[in-house]
Amino acid sequence: MVELIYEGKAKRVYRLNDDELIIEFKDEVTALDGLRREAAAGKGRLAAAQTAFFMNYLERNGVRTHFINWDGDRRITVRALRMVPIEVIVRNYAYGSFLRRMPMVKPLTRFSKPLVEFHLKSDELHDPLLTTDDLIEAGLLGREDLQEVINTSLKVNDLLMGLLGMHGLTLLDFKLEFGFSRDGRLLLADELSGDTMRILKEGRHLDKELFRKGASAVDLVKAYAELNTLLGIS
Ligand code: ADP
Ligand code: CDP
Repeated sequence: MVELIYEGKAKRVYRLNDDELIIEFKDEVTALDGLRREAAAGKGRLAAAQTAFFMNYLERNGVRTHFINWDGDRRITVRALRMVPIEVIVRNYAYGSFLRRMPMVKPLTRFSKPLVEFHLKSDELHDPLLTTDDLIEAGLLGREDLQEVINTSLKVNDLLMGLLGMHGLTLLDFKLEFGFSRDGRLLLADELSGDTMRILKEGRHLDKELFRKGASAVDLVKAYAELNTLLGIS
């Protein structure tokens, strides 16, 4: 059997061999840095399917990702990476933690251009915002790699905005993670799903914001299923 090497809030990670991992999406939903947790039957498969769909789309459009395949259920196979311990957030509209630090901006204001920001991946510290100088000085990324992360994140944003826009959906913001392969290439990693993106349909969230704002896990799973139907995801 494959060995469990990490259990996070939303996923379990297993080692398949030296180069590949299996990521299993849990049938659970958490909020408030894991303080609120509920069972969510069916969510793991829906989020795995979303991740497979978006990663495949990005690969077809020239973005290098860790994605290898989806088992049709809750598991994806990916390339094992040395992860960069930061979360990259791209924002098209003012929402979430942006509004908490910039309360003078009206919610859902469209930015003049997409904003890219960096947070240290640390639950204890509540993912603090980092400047680009911070992350370079701390040795988390070199200057050239940082530029590549920014360029790729903006390209991902263009592709996802276009794709979701074709289906009448608005992408408010999303989170990306990156890692290095053994041959030193920077690849897009982790997941792309309703857990990591805010997506509106006619002003209604089809993402984890529903749960953050108090909806039940059952309603969250219904929203993820609706998103998959709209995007033609099996
Ligand atoms: P968290 O650690 O935030 O609770 P998850 O439950 O999502 O997160 O766990 C998934 C873990 O797998 C995360 O720590 C993520 O950085 C890591 N990860 C994602 N893709 C890869 C990859 N290709 N190689 C190694 N680690 C990865
Ligand atoms: O969720 P919150 O308001 O605290 O954070 P945010 O910085 O406004 O989140 C921006 C985007 O990144 C949203 O789409 C979140 O779903 C996503 N995100 C994530 O996937 N994981 C995190 N740890 C933080 C944010």
